[in-house]
Amino acid sequence: MLVTGCDISSTTTIVSTESEQYLRTLLALPDHMPIPAIPEFNPLTQEKITLGRFLFYDTQLSANQTQSCASCHFQIDAFSDALETPTGSTGHVLARNSQGLSNVAYNASFTWSNDTFLELEDQLNVPIRADDPIELGVTDSELATVLSRFETDEQYQQMFQAAFPGSDTGVSMNKIIFALASFVRTMVSANSAYDDYVVGDKSALTDQQKQGFSLFNGEKFECFHCHTGINFTVSYRDENSSSDSLLFPFFNNGLYNVNNDGSYPETDQGLFDLSSDPADKGKFRPPSLRNIGLTAPYMHDGSIGTLREVVEHYARGGTLTPSGINEGDGKNNPYKSALITGFTATDEEIDAVVAFLESLNDYDFINNEKFSNPHQGN
Ligand code: HEC
Ligand code: HEC
Repeated sequence: MLVTGCDISSTTTIVSTESEQYLRTLLALPDHMPIPAIPEFNPLTQEKITLGRFLFYDTQLSANQTQSCASCHFQIDAFSDALETPTGSTGHVLARNSQGLSNVAYNASFTWSNDTFLELEDQLNVPIRADDPIELGVTDSELATVLSRFETDEQYQQMFQAAFPGSDTGVSMNKIIFALASFVRTMVSANSAYDDYVVGDKSALTDQQKQGFSLFNGEKFECFHCHTGINFTVSYRDENSSSDSLLFPFFNNGLYNVNNDGSYPETDQGLFDLSSDPADKGKFRPPSLRNIGLTAPYMHDGSIGTLREVVEHYARGGTLTPSGINEGDGKNNPYKSALITGFTATDEEIDAVVAFLESLNDYDFINNEKFSNPHQGN
């Protein structure tokens, strides 16, 4: 909780103890999880969460009515989609892997690599409105048609009214986005074997997983430098984070070295595509590792198939692409983080780290009715 008074530059909400309990209940947050930062302009309410859940699963939200958010974010895959990269509603193959949405509310920035999307409300414009590449395809020319689908539906009329009381009765893209962001913020995963261990059940992890946990947090494997804290990423914030202490970390972890000049494949060079600064080539946000055993394939382009191969990538100090247009050794990428130098690990140690990572799987999360498709007949 922020107790130091009004920091008007902060984007976090200043909450009273009473509203703290209210948020814990709405988010079904166990005691060991901090309260995420909820922006003041979009306070969390049950009515917005409910509306957001209906919208998340509704194909009427795409211009041609073929896709919904859930077409790329499946609950069974911890809201990723088991593909290297997905295809949008009109057939564009996207460059990036669909991200899992576990504990998304705690991320300091959004998407694989963007230091300007600091609120979910900013980011959600992309899947809905973008025209290159098209995801849901609600471009300017399609907007009125899509909004009218919800405006003329009686059940939606009631839900929009309940979610946005006191505003005009119309449906707007802002209301849709605010409701979706509210629903996505409730996707809290905090009931894995690892969580049981953290709250005191020392038998919740096997001996192998405990060995893996200490290797993960040790100076040989170095994982914890970038994947740390309750959400296993340094890209983190909660209601206590002040705007000047927030980190927006992005790293090159040695996945590619095209032309031996530090480049990544032309389709996606990470932060460099926004900044044009060569030092930003291949820089991506360290993802949360929550439910990581359920979100294969891995990395921003889905290019690594299994967790074992991910750990081998780090042990090698980068990935070798032996031939083809992306030929090169990521190990020698000049922009690679100094924390990724490679190390010698036995098969047993690698298995232990993989077993630990799998202890972050939360089967309650992927079976929780609150996150499931609410539409009848589905
Ligand atoms: C065609 C597939 C597709 C559809 C449809 C889609 N997404 Fe995504 N989603 C992705 C991909 C790919 C990314 C990664 C984007 C990037 O890094 O640029 C992503 C990223 C996200 C993120 C950021 C997660 C993070 O950790 O930063 C959120 C939140 C999200 N999607 C929610 C939604 C919602 C809500 C909808 C419906 C309005 C939606 N998505 C529709 C594929 C999709
Ligand atoms: C220097 C920071 C850094 C260190 C150290 C690091 N990682 Fe990562 N990790 C990242 C970044 C950045 C990505 C995303 C890279 C990309 O997509 O190109 C990533 C991706 C991953 C992924 C894939 C996540 C997903 O959703 O696809 C896993 C799993 C992972 N790391 C595990 C580990 C393990 C295990 C270690 C220790 C051996 C480790 N990381 C060390 C920064 C780091």
